[in-house]
Amino acid sequence: MFVTFEGCEGVGKSTQLRLLSEYLERTGQRAVYVREPGSTDISEQIRQVILDTKNTAMTEMTEALLYAASRAQLVREVIKPALERGELVICDRYVDSSVAYQGYGRQMGAELIKKINAPAVDGCMPDLTIFIDLSPEHSWRTYRTADRLEQESNEFFKRVYDGFINEISVSNGRIVPIKPDFDKNVTSQKIIAVMRERGIIK
Ligand code: TMP
Repeated sequence: MFVTFEGCEGVGKSTQLRLLSEYLERTGQRAVYVREPGSTDISEQIRQVILDTKNTAMTEMTEALLYAASRAQLVREVIKPALERGELVICDRYVDSSVAYQGYGRQMGAELIKKINAPAVDGCMPDLTIFIDLSPEHSWRTYRTADRLEQESNEFFKRVYDGFINEISVSNGRIVPIKPDFDKNVTSQKIIAVMRERGIIK
């Protein structure tokens, strides 16, 4: 099974991934954890290029293709082989981030981004996508350690959020929005409940 986590900046996605991994560890369930862009040597090098604040000249098409290139490598080097071995794969961001950030945020269009990513993911789509549903106005995003993407305007992040919401409705139940609770453990329990209901974990 393949599960991805999505959300805007500063919504507690990393905390939730950590709490989920702790739950799986406690209950003796194994998983392969990866993040995008990254998690292979080549994908991590591509990540550096994408997020480098010096790369102000990068065109939006270059950016979209670099995310797809990083993904193509990760799918073939790690995700597909793990799924073929019958393992649970949990990925921090995936193609929905490209649709939301490049498709809606950069206004390149969701359809174009899906087309660019089709050969990259090569049919490898998540069984479940957890979307941490917190709008940018309510997030804990700070600008202190901002990478190139994090330096974008509030309007950009509003479009990204609206894009995610739009994609939920066309995902046939694959993308499940989870409203984060003030208590991170309550949020974690909601996520675990969805994954158990779908028979992905025990
Ligand atoms: P992170 O902050 O979750 O590590 O993600 C890195 C940044 O890259 C974040 O601002 C979201 C952005 N991103 C895209 O714009 N498109 C993508 O396809 C992915 C995976 C991430």
